[in-house]
Amino acid sequence: MRVKTEDGVKDLQALWLEDDGRVVMMEQRIIPERLEFMDCRTVEETAVAIEDMVVRGAPAIGAAGALGMAQAHILGEDWASSKARLWKTRPTAYDLFYALEYMDRAKEAGADLVKAARDFTDDIARRCKAIGEAGAPLIKDGFGVLTHCNAGALATVDWGTALAPMRIAHRDGTKFTVYSDETRPRLQGSRLTAWELENEDIPHYIIADNAAGHYMQRGHIQLAITGSDRVTANGDAANKIGTYEKAVLAKENGIPFYIAAPVSTFDLGMSDGMQIPIEERDCSEVTQFEGRYMAHSKSPCKNPGFDVTPARYIAGYITEIGIITADEIPDRIGAMQQDHGKE
Ligand code: MRU
Repeated sequence: MRVKTEDGVKDLQALWLEDDGRVVMMEQRIIPERLEFMDCRTVEETAVAIEDMVVRGAPAIGAAGALGMAQAHILGEDWASSKARLWKTRPTAYDLFYALEYMDRAKEAGADLVKAARDFTDDIARRCKAIGEAGAPLIKDGFGVLTHCNAGALATVDWGTALAPMRIAHRDGTKFTVYSDETRPRLQGSRLTAWELENEDIPHYIIADNAAGHYMQRGHIQLAITGSDRVTANGDAANKIGTYEKAVLAKENGIPFYIAAPVSTFDLGMSDGMQIPIEERDCSEVTQFEGRYMAHSKSPCKNPGFDVTPARYIAGYITEIGIITADEIPDRIGAMQQDHGKE
């Protein structure tokens, strides 16, 4: 991803593995205030970084899982307990489980585990670029394009899922404006998506989450694209809390709503979205802001991290093999998952 720094424009990835076993991550909790990197020196540190959202976004969580297993191999940490520790960090993003199983298969096959994890990580970035190429033609001159949460390079190693078509359309000269929901409670839209768009000079507005319907109704938005944490065999898609209501509003206003996701996000073992485990996060994310209560300190609260958008609200799935419909998911994604790592 292109990042403007005091030392000039840099091309950075969200995370990588050093030869000495450190997993290095862009510290996503302090963007946009500062750009810093965190060294995770043990599998436990990598697991805590996933839980605390130093790294977040489904494909990037998957990459952190794969690199964490390679880290276990380099440091001589126990394979099974490292896998179990990483497995329980976050429950909704399927990419994590996909990546951990992928590394298990690499170990069983006697592969070079460091190379396997690095290849898996680079492969995500390549797949996201292909998602960008498949989705860019959906964006036309004059469009307003809504997105929710951050499904950019930070969330995917590089390029992004929902943001990849926007990156490529912008580089191709298409003139459009992104409407980035702020995405309460952790503000991935205003803190991260807007930061990525600003670094790419892509015109955008940050809007309050509850403003999206207003802009749809007034004709400012012609297309909506989000990422997903898990797409089930029937096309239902879990994504950051608030995505479902945006999809319903899009349908009400005749606006096509697309999910952009790579092979590792599709859970073909689940028949529908109601089976997806939804992460419940700490209430302090809702009731407090930077340590200050924004509510009565005794008020109970609920904080689901994700919701599920039923397939009937989704116009298509922008994937690395092109835009597909819900009906095509079992066969076409199934074939890709069979081949993954064997290409
Ligand atoms: O809780 P987060 O920040 O990990 O949630 C991220 C999202 O909901 C993203 O939209 C999703 O992971 C897709 S990322 C390409």
